[in-house]
Amino acid sequence: MKIVLLGAPGAGKGTQAQSISKYFNIPHISTGDIFRKNISEGTKLGKTAKRYMDAGQLVPDQLTLDLIEDRLNQEDCHRGYLLDGYPRTVVQADFLEEMLRRKHDQLDCALLIAVPREAILDRITGRRICPSCGASYHLKHNPPLKKDTCDICGHQVIQRLDDKAETVEERLDVYDEQTKPLISFYDERCILKSVDGTRAINQIFNDIVKVLSEVRLHDHTQE
Ligand code: AP5
Ligand code: MG
Repeated sequence: MKIVLLGAPGAGKGTQAQSISKYFNIPHISTGDIFRKNISEGTKLGKTAKRYMDAGQLVPDQLTLDLIEDRLNQEDCHRGYLLDGYPRTVVQADFLEEMLRRKHDQLDCALLIAVPREAILDRITGRRICPSCGASYHLKHNPPLKKDTCDICGHQVIQRLDDKAETVEERLDVYDEQTKPLISFYDERCILKSVDGTRAINQIFNDIVKVLSEVRLHDHTQE
């Protein structure tokens, strides 16, 4: 199953992606996580990406295209994947569609986690992430079992640099301008599904499992 997760910054894409990936046994591919890993390793890509990310801007399309193509050609993506944070512009969506078309393939679903802008700020400012495995927590709504410690790998959790209130406003504007048009892009292709992202994390996950199980019934690669 090939799935794209859509939703504003802070909508819960990363939170749900972890559970979806485990449940449906497909790799979770987050371009944000890939960039953060490059930043922590001090690579050339990381240095360039950091300038844009810290300012709440998108990394230029050109830097994302080869990266995503390489990742999707890896062995573990053979039977599907869950994309989180890619595509983020119409240029990226066209690139992905063309890449799949060359393989006589297509996406199965673009799943929107719908959360209104007003609800986002609290989520993002309270977020803590694991710099090692990418797991996402929230001080109030989803704290780690042991204070400041990742449940999965035991690293100390941190606040993302782009999670300051000023940068979040910029990220939300960028989302409205450049990423929101993808909702109609995928609606026109009849693969858009949507879940209410304002509910509790496990309720949203239950809704997602229902939606994606239905999608999987029609997925030829599972036969
Ligand atoms: P990226 O890492 O993708 O960030 P984002 O899209 O801004 O999304 P977030 O990770 O902030 O939110 P999320 O939806 O994953 O929410 P989460 O689950 O953590 O990208 C970062 C930057 O990288 C971009 O700004 C850009 O510069 C660059 N970039 C990445 N990909 C790119 C691309 N393709 N092209 C160009 N540039 C690119 O949840 C948020 C918080 O809410 C957490 O604390 C969580 O615990 C809590 N929470 C989750 N669900 C609930 C709930 N139901 N109720 C209460 N709290 C909840
Ligand atoms: Mg995320």
